[in-house]
Amino acid sequence: MTDTSKMRRTEIADILKNPSIGEEVLVKGWVRAFRNNRFVALNDGSSFNNLQVVLDSDNMNQEILKSVSFHACIAVTGKLVESTGSGQTVEIQAEQVEILGANNLDEYPLQPKKQTMEFLRENAQFRMRTNTFSAVFRIRHAVAFAVNKYFHDKGFYYMHTPIVTGSDAEGAGEMFRVTTLDPKNAPTDENGSVDFKEDFFGKATNLTVSGQLQAEIGALSMGKVYTFGPTFRAENSNTSRHLAEFWMIEPEVAFADIYDDMDLAEDFCKYLINYILVNYPDDLAFLDKRIQDLEKNMKAELRRPMSLIETLKFVVENDFERITYTEAINLLRNSKPFKKKKFKFPVEWGVDLSSEHERWLVEKKFKKPVIVHDYPKDVKSFYMRMNDDDKTVAAMDVLFPGIGEVIGGSQREERLDYLKKRMNEMNIHEDELSWYLDLRKFGGTPHSGFGLGFERMILFITGMSNIRDVIPFPRTPGNAEF
Ligand code: 4AD
Ligand code: MG
Repeated sequence: MTDTSKMRRTEIADILKNPSIGEEVLVKGWVRAFRNNRFVALNDGSSFNNLQVVLDSDNMNQEILKSVSFHACIAVTGKLVESTGSGQTVEIQAEQVEILGANNLDEYPLQPKKQTMEFLRENAQFRMRTNTFSAVFRIRHAVAFAVNKYFHDKGFYYMHTPIVTGSDAEGAGEMFRVTTLDPKNAPTDENGSVDFKEDFFGKATNLTVSGQLQAEIGALSMGKVYTFGPTFRAENSNTSRHLAEFWMIEPEVAFADIYDDMDLAEDFCKYLINYILVNYPDDLAFLDKRIQDLEKNMKAELRRPMSLIETLKFVVENDFERITYTEAINLLRNSKPFKKKKFKFPVEWGVDLSSEHERWLVEKKFKKPVIVHDYPKDVKSFYMRMNDDDKTVAAMDVLFPGIGEVIGGSQREERLDYLKKRMNEMNIHEDELSWYLDLRKFGGTPHSGFGLGFERMILFITGMSNIRDVIPFPRTPGNAEF
């Protein structure tokens, strides 16, 4: 027998990709399933697929055999042989099994059966060991990689914008305060308010809601930049689409108008989806089948109109619909649900679109992604460029089936007088953003950008239904475990 103590571990992905039949190998991983006291499905995370390990259960150490259980961590040495069973082409005939980490199933929260998503969320220290979550997080990794690849290949620079900031990019006031002051004993100013001059940074600071304003600094000197980092919003939205801490990708491009911005957004979305279709077919096939199993007993109208993979291909292969906000309102007011008073929120020119309206446009009317542009100025942020009608701004939202808004973006107001006027109207102090105004005073130019909600894109690609299940450790109102 080979001296296995000196052997190097081989990763399961490498074995499955390029099996050297007849060779002795050492593999390590977690037991995903154990059948007939003989067949172990071993997974080390390197691939969606498991390696089948065949145990000679009659002739092996019975104490060790007893410890080969669901999610135990084991090391196996043995010979790679062609598999006669269905489902795999290669398997390993175990000669030696070592228990690296036994699993006490009597106390282990997960059991080898279907678990609810809520239960797995509460046990996030273990959920990545399941097929579903390891597929989701492998895809999350791959999309992050594809984001950087896309922009690098196009000549964008990755820019790191601050997490702690003194400015509110969206002007929506939904920020988490960052302070080292003692809440019981905070210094006060002459009006009795907390005196943040005494605070760590000498001013009031928050966690950022967006890196856009700083990215504009980058674009107006380096041409094309993007940020990709965590952002924080203290909005009390307990929905399956909102997180208090989420990751956002924000490209910012000099010399680009709103139409260039829409082109970039559409191309970028298609690239990310296609990257996963091409490179992660096994993970996608599993997630697709998972949804079909879940939907088996559902009413037809609740099921997805297309399978997950068909939906992803459809988005990659077809143009997104582009309509103005005004057209969207007209379509909505002529829709069946509007006439039958089925919408909860009002539909009239001037109000923001609600998720029910967005989903009607995408899922019922156009049955494809829709970009809505030129929104009323009052429902959008101060930095968006005023259109000639003086009522709408050059904003655009990309809406996806099943999700709603995945991207929000705009052409930025490059004209100093217009920008100052909007800031005054919206009570944003000029002295707080003097550096931002400087970009208009000294060598400014038209420029545009957008923000893609990373988790919303992962939701779409994986077909998961709750945003809490596509980020390893979700932060939502009342929840910051781990
Ligand atoms: O539309 P938003 O608020 O746009 C901005 O922050 C701009 N500064 C972006 C830019 O132009 N550079 O957010 C952008 C995207 C949304 O379309 C949505 O996908 C996602 O971020 N998002 C959230 N995702 C998860 N949880 C939340 N609470 C989110 N809020 C926004
Ligand atoms: Mg938005």
